[in-house]
Amino acid sequence: MSAAAFIEKNKDRFLSELLDLLRIPSVSADPKFKNNVFEAANFVKESLEKAGADVAEICQTAGYPVVYGEKIIDPALPTVLVYGHYDVQPADPYELWDSPPFEPVIKKTTIHPEGAIFARGSADDKGQFYMHVKAFEAMMATGELTCNVKFMIEGEEEVGSDNLDAFVIANKERLKADVILISDTHMISMKDPSITVGLRGLTYMEVEVTGSNRDLHSGTYGGAVANPINVLCKMIASLKDENEHITIPGFYDNVQEVSDEQRQRLNEAPFDLNEYQGKLEIEAVHGEKGYTTIERVGIRPTLDVNGIWGGYTGEGAKTVLPSKAFAKISMRLVPGQDWQVIASLFENHFKAIAPKSVKVKVKTHHGGAPAVVSDSSVGYQAAEAAMEETFGKRPIPTREGGSIPIVALFQKELGSDPILFGFGLDTDALHSPNEHYGVTNYFIGIETIAAFFRHFRKLSQQ
Ligand code: BES
Ligand code: MN
Ligand code: MN
Repeated sequence: MSAAAFIEKNKDRFLSELLDLLRIPSVSADPKFKNNVFEAANFVKESLEKAGADVAEICQTAGYPVVYGEKIIDPALPTVLVYGHYDVQPADPYELWDSPPFEPVIKKTTIHPEGAIFARGSADDKGQFYMHVKAFEAMMATGELTCNVKFMIEGEEEVGSDNLDAFVIANKERLKADVILISDTHMISMKDPSITVGLRGLTYMEVEVTGSNRDLHSGTYGGAVANPINVLCKMIASLKDENEHITIPGFYDNVQEVSDEQRQRLNEAPFDLNEYQGKLEIEAVHGEKGYTTIERVGIRPTLDVNGIWGGYTGEGAKTVLPSKAFAKISMRLVPGQDWQVIASLFENHFKAIAPKSVKVKVKTHHGGAPAVVSDSSVGYQAAEAAMEETFGKRPIPTREGGSIPIVALFQKELGSDPILFGFGLDTDALHSPNEHYGVTNYFIGIETIAAFFRHFRKLSQQ
């Protein structure tokens, strides 16, 4: 039996196993789910064993463990390293989900007429890394495994992969591979397959602005003492000018400019602004002057407030002049920018613009480097050929706005080409209520991964 026939025959089981994994609330950000995160690691380890791995281990780190697995069929053959993450984002706000986030259900949508799996982590990243486990199983079962394979599935991606750099550096030899496959990104659409060749970096900050030493009556003191929420809003507003250009001194200093020719190529990707706005129910897009939407997301840095709080937010009205205000602010970075340098530029500037009437504290949460990957490596060519085979159309290279900090570290420490082989769609609602992943995406992903192994072996030996 061919791997493709095996996949077809085992469809129901492949789907129900993914649903079992999705039932485990492995939220890495919230200590309440600690046991579930370990439970998910164990689930991954057992799936690798059942699929036919010779080695399947739970490797302890200073945080949540990395699950490592391997099947070496012949050391002389090329080796594929698969990276993914079994942790998920918090499901909050729960009330905005149409069905409970950890009770997966399959429902039809306009974009997914054959059905999509609704659950936290369905697209990011359980549904996507699990395709690799199932492709591996199918290739093992049918004698079609043509390359050695290693798996490295981590549990802290959604909280910044703090302990992963050390793990990769300590296990360099073991992780040695000819190519790294990562399915944790999007394609343009089912009819326009694409391969991601750029990701943005990230610097994540939190600020605290303090006015008076206690909350005050907003009538007795209002107008005479600084309101830290008002001040914070003004400070945040000043971080961008009228062209949506970031005003932090030195912020753009090392940004690598993209050539006109490259910009033109990026803009040739299929993109319909009306459709984009329609899907988000917005009348207009918003961003840096002089750049298209594709460029704003793919090649330009930006700054966003992720959350802002302080004062009274309960029922009814309470008059109060609060003592403190807070905000979580992230900056997406592009090649040339160093996330730690940006963190200190932000901190210095934020303190410098604070009026004397308030005190400011700035804290760095985490960060990660941007990455650009080759669109001509052997791995890329194999991915291109595999997608062309299953989608019937040659994929195009795109740059995405999200971040996977470990990609740059892989390039630096392991020196092998990472391939961002994602099968999701931008409508999958990652990190949002009602996250979902197309059933068709899941199965075409499994098939395409199996095809990748075939093409990679062939192209590596040419
Ligand atoms: N899978 C995403 C990254 C992603 C999403 C890349 C969509 C391209 C398209 C990943 O799990 C993620 O959410 N990363 C975080 C960064 C991390 C350091 C918390 C992000 O991009 O916010
Ligand atoms: Mn992810
Ligand atoms: Mn994510």
